[in-house]
Amino acid sequence: MVRIVFRDVAGNAQEINAEPGVSLMVSAKAHGIAGIEAECGGSMVCATCHIYVDEPWFSAIGAAGPIEAEMVEYTRHPRLTSRLSCQILVTEAMDGMEVGVPLSQR
Ligand code: FES
Repeated sequence: MVRIVFRDVAGNAQEINAEPGVSLMVSAKAHGIAGIEAECGGSMVCATCHIYVDEPWFSAIGAAGPIEAEMVEYTRHPRLTSRLSCQILVTEAMDGMEVGVPLSQR
């Protein structure tokens, strides 16, 4: 399992054990992370799985592709480190990764 820490805007953190090879969104939903609604189930049409990926992990996993980036632009609080968690496949290299959940999804 891969440890991932989700942090809300107040700084409250919740660590989960994510399964490698599964999307970060699926693991977040399985652990009841508040603010990760994922209304479209991972079809990249809702952006309710939006997260901010902390460095150095953001640089390691890379920025969103063009379609994902377009979806992120429609969120209320996009940042340079925004990603859609449904588009991130968990790998062992992400162990200890920290991500933030946007205010607009709380
Ligand atoms: S779950 Fe809808 S865009 Fe990620």
